[in-house]
Amino acid sequence: MAENIVGLKRTCMCAQLTERDIGKTVTLMGWCHRQRDLGGLVFLLLRDRSGEIQLVADEATPADAREKAIRTRSEFVLAASGVVARRAAPNPDMPTGGIEVSIRELRILSESQTPPFYIEEDVKANEPLRLKYRYLDLRRPDMQRNLMLRHRITRITRDHFDHAGFLEIETPMLIRSTPEGARDYLVPSRVFNGRFFALPQSPQLFKQLLMVAGYDRYMQIVRCFRDEDLRADRQPEFTQIDLEMSFVDADDVMAANEAYLKRLFREILDLEIELPLPRLTYREAMERFGSDKPDLRFGMELHDLSELVADSTFSVFRTAVETGGCVRGIAVPGGATMTRKEIDSLTEYVKTYRAKGLAWLTLETPARGSIVKFMDESLIASIRDRCGADSGDLILMVADSTAVTLDALGALRCEVARRRGMIDPTLFRPLWVTEFPLLEYDDEAGRYVAKHHPFTAPMDEDIPLMDTDPAAVRAKAYDIVLNGTEMGGGSIRIHDSALQAKLFSLIGFTREEAETRFGFLLEAFRYGVPPHGGLAYGLDRMVMLLGGLDNIREVIAFPKVQNSSDLMTDAPGDVDEKQLEELGLMIRSDKANGRVEE
Ligand code: AMO
Ligand code: AMP
Repeated sequence: MAENIVGLKRTCMCAQLTERDIGKTVTLMGWCHRQRDLGGLVFLLLRDRSGEIQLVADEATPADAREKAIRTRSEFVLAASGVVARRAAPNPDMPTGGIEVSIRELRILSESQTPPFYIEEDVKANEPLRLKYRYLDLRRPDMQRNLMLRHRITRITRDHFDHAGFLEIETPMLIRSTPEGARDYLVPSRVFNGRFFALPQSPQLFKQLLMVAGYDRYMQIVRCFRDEDLRADRQPEFTQIDLEMSFVDADDVMAANEAYLKRLFREILDLEIELPLPRLTYREAMERFGSDKPDLRFGMELHDLSELVADSTFSVFRTAVETGGCVRGIAVPGGATMTRKEIDSLTEYVKTYRAKGLAWLTLETPARGSIVKFMDESLIASIRDRCGADSGDLILMVADSTAVTLDALGALRCEVARRRGMIDPTLFRPLWVTEFPLLEYDDEAGRYVAKHHPFTAPMDEDIPLMDTDPAAVRAKAYDIVLNGTEMGGGSIRIHDSALQAKLFSLIGFTREEAETRFGFLLEAFRYGVPPHGGLAYGLDRMVMLLGGLDNIREVIAFPKVQNSSDLMTDAPGDVDEKQLEELGLMIRSDKANGRVEE
């Protein structure tokens, strides 16, 4: 039977004990990590959130406690009182390895079945099993460290913005569905059958309304919901550090955030980042890195070779340039030693980015490569110079439309860096990417859509282009990028109703549609609206990046898997017929695909 803790009080956490405590009587509570019965001595490794300490049943231990120590198995919950002593055989690999606690009283507070996987650092169990038994997975020291890191980042964030005059204000979770962006999660209304709430994709409109209301420095650590395809850095519910400020321009928002990031990097990573952070315009980022979230930890920038090969005898290159596309390349340092097999696998890799091929050229004498027969020495020399390459390097080239070329080479650049170990994991290279296009053309919808969101302001000098060349209009939008991941993004908002109306019409909303969808915002803007702007960080991504992890699930206590289900609670689940009836809903039999299998 489970014992209780009556009469016992925990005096400290396991890993708080040090050699200074030798001789003291202490009471500890936690889980048995491992039991070793050596006959004369029984060792229990006791674990709590702080770490581990060895307990020992020795000659000073009463018989009943010794019996219990013998009976104890992994993951039993124990309360132990005893005396701290120096360990006869110290364990240098353990922070508390110099000491142990000689047991005087032991209670088994709860027994445990054999867990489905061993609770240890760097667990071997596969992820679905870890997620099904997440409460066991969370006992592991690396998960504890991740959640503690998350806690520290959250605490610093609240403290920093509090000192900077921001108010934390909550916004509703049941809101009106608004178009644009990802798919909404919908919540059917019982009171208004056939009508739905949406869960917020972000508090965007509410934080703007708070600016209209005069709360000119707002922050919130807030859950957001997006029904989109998941990737390693995406979850259907995730957390934003959401900010909005009034009477500011883009530089003010960026400066306020740089002060925050400086403190975060100092306190979390013990790293001094230099301010102001580097800035790249969207255009420059795309041209140099083939990405709007460039990883600055390594070089291998993209170079435009179009003009050099415009009248090449290699028709793929010539045609690409003639038809308005381009030829670009990267130089892989020392890459001339790469095998054909490695290069072929890179060719397959760029094809997943819609590139039709990958041309390669080694800078050796003589040069080798897939298209070397189309090149004379002087062309090879000018390609080498354009790429800033040296002998021994490998030039990788893609010829295609500019969009495909940049995308494919941008991805290739990162893949080559990963494969060749060119990324120093101790480096952190944050930067701003600015001047994003205001609009992008959505082929499926056959119209422009807002690239950030439809409340983002155009750059003043580009406003005339809204009539003549909408695709060329740049926005007062900025992303904060860290090591190749978009950590946050924001913009200065439109605060002028005429300009807002113009934008709505550019993205194909009639006046009436705009009124139905965003009427409350447009109406609020008739009552005095300050110029404002803000930004939101993905907290999960931030913790992942600062923790040096490559999967967002590692920093979320109870995350969802690829198909957005929860393996522990088996959500989403069925509901009673009665619940559906109250909501006025019927499930179409041809759509009821029941449980989604993993
Ligand atoms: P945005 O849509 O760029 O901007 O989101 C801001 C940041 O949130 C994170 N993020 C995600 N993290 C995990 N899983 C997801 N599915 C996910 N989607 C986004 C990213 C991203 O940079 N309201 C605007 C902000 C503003 O304009 O102030 C917004 O939501 O790190
Ligand atoms: P092919 O004539 O299609 O066999 O192509 C010959 C070589 O040209 C291939 O091995 C590639 O190295 C290169 N190549 C083909 N298409 C492209 C492209 N779109 N961009 C870059 N290189 C290409």
